[in-house]
Parts: sequence; structure tokens; C-alpha cells
Amino acid sequence: MLELINLTKVFKTGMFSSGRLKAVNNVSFKIEEGEVTSLIGESGSGKSTIGKMILRLLTITQGEIRLDGRDISGLKGAELRDYYRKVQGVFQDPFSSYNPIFKVDRVFENLRSVFFAKMHYSDWMDKVHTVLKLVGLDPDQILGKYPHQLSGGQLQRILISRALLLDVNLLVADELISMLDASTRIDVLNLLADLKKKGLSILFITHDLSLGYYLSERAVILFKGHVVEMGRTDKVFFNPQHYYTCKLLSSVPRLDKKWEDIESDHKKKIDGRKCFDPIMDAEHEMVEVEEDHYVAVQRR
Ligand SMILES: Nc1ncnc2c1ncn2[C@@H]1O[C@H](COP(=O)(O)OP(=O)(O)OP(=O)(O)O)[C@@H](O)[C@H]1O
Ligand SMILES: [Mg+2]
Repeated sequence: MLELINLTKVFKTGMFSSGRLKAVNNVSFKIEEGEVTSLIGESGSGKSTIGKMILRLLTITQGEIRLDGRDISGLKGAELRDYYRKVQGVFQDPFSSYNPIFKVDRVFENLRSVFFAKMHYSDWMDKVHTVLKLVGLDPDQILGKYPHQLSGGQLQRILISRALLLDVNLLVADELISMLDASTRIDVLNLLADLKKKGLSILFITHDLSLGYYLSERAVILFKGHVVEMGRTDKVFFNPQHYYTCKLLSSVPRLDKKWEDIESDHKKKIDGRKCFDPIMDAEHEMVEVEEDHYVAVQRR
């Protein structure tokens, strides 16, 4: 359904934009219909940058993103609107997605003016009520409130309901539940699991491995802007091949920290070749180590 092909993002950094930072480097993977794909990596590995390119909030430096075979970078006007009907994002910090001086109803008003301008107001409000109930909210308790009068979990659900009003096919969920307290987390996770049952595809961006495992069919492990391992979640989690994945899995409690020191004795060989090391090696390729399980190794 959505395909990332050799996607690269270079940011200009430093004074007078003199520096270059390759935040995403030649990343390719597919998000299949009705599947949850977890994009997992430490802080700064390029996860949000990928999410933002998918949502067209950032331009692509090189490579392509295709939805059902079609390159999305040139979409404009009505076509872009159509794209946003199919692909929507929900981000980490629900508070930052709202303007504090407006009631939350404005989220729905904006949506109506762009996508449903011709719909009769009472029909529209019926639709809003239906999706709010679907995400477990009581419309009478939500509408008419200001963001500060609602909890993080409620605001998060409103954003999900917004995506549902558009009947999206793909939801980009960037650290969606990291900010929520434990009990709300489970509710929102269950909501995502329900939506998945209804056929929604989700790109689940997280640095929390257990969340990635809980929800997804497919996992993509990102390290310094490179995909180092990917495939069926159970295969990647129970038979990790790349030293970075092994390291991630063995240091779950400290996952949000950066590690600069990766010991070389972690590095095993695959098919006679060393695993790709983004710090040392210039080039790599993905090899299939078992069905539906790929690992980055040094290019011959
Ligand atoms: N607009 C920008 N300009 C310059 N550099 C940027 C910009 N946005 C992100 N970066 C850099 O790109 C790299 C990847 O950032 P990104 O936000 O994608 O990481 P992330 O994996 O989402 O991390 P986190 O888990 O902390 O959210 C980081 O080094 C970051 O500093
Ligand atoms: Mg991020």
C-alpha cells in the first residue's frame, strides 16, 4: 500500500546552514494494507523525520514515497486532499496539536471546512458524535471544552477520531502513547488494536520495544537513519541478527538513551559478511536471513 523507496533526508544545520546532517539514509520498506508496522529506534535515529515525510510535513531529499504505486511528492490541490483523506498522523504530545485558546471543537470545524464543506451541519455533527463514541469518548463531555479542560488521553483520542472521520487507510502514530499514563496507554493501545481489526494500517513509531511487539506484524529497526533489520515482528524479536537489534533487545529499560559505544564483539557475521555498521561502513545491502526477515550487511 505505502512504499518507501531509498528515502533520504538531509538537514542543513549550523550557522549559515553550512553543515549537513543525513537524518534518514536510503530507507526502504513497505507498509501493507491492514498491518501494523513498528518503526523502532533510539532517540535521533530518524523515526519522526520518516513520519513527517510520509505526512508531507517535510520534503524528501532523495528517494520516493508511493501510495498504491503512485509517487506522492508531486500531489497538489484536490489530489493532496485525497491523500490526506487516506493518510493521517497523530503525534506524541497531544497538547501541542491544539491551540489552547480555541475549544477542541475547532479541530472538527477545520476538518469540515476543508473536507466536508457541502455536508449538512446536523449530518456532520451526527458523524462527529459517532466517531467520538467509537474512540470511547462521550461527545457531551468533550465538545465545548478547551484543551486544558481535557486529559492527555482524551486529547489523543480526539486526534484519532479526527483521523477516523476521514476514513483513513493509514495512520502514522508517532510515539502516540509515550506521554500517557499506564492505564490510559492500555486503552489507547486497545483502541489501535480495534482499528487494526477494522482494516486500518498503522505506522507505529516508538522507542519502546514492548509496545512495538504488542501491536505490530512487522518491525523495522532504525539505527542512525539506516534500516539495519526488518521483517516479521516475531522473527526480528526472537531471532535478532544485527548487533544493534541485539543490543536494543538486551537494554530495554534504557532504550530512550543514546549509546555511542557498541562493542565490536557483538558483531557477528551473516553468510560470511559482517553486519553493516552505519558508523564505519559506507555501503550496505539487505540480505534475507529467513523468510520475511532481512538484515543489513556490508556490501561486497
Ligand atoms: N528540522 C530539522 N533541522 C535539522 N535537524 C533536524 C530537524 N529535525 C530533525 N533533525 C535531526 O535529525 C535527526 C533525526 O531526528 P528525528 O526527530 O527524526 O529522530 P527520532 O528518531 O524521531 O527521535 P526521538 O525518538 O527523540 O523522537 C536528529 O539528529 C535531529 O536532531
Ligand atoms: Mg521522534
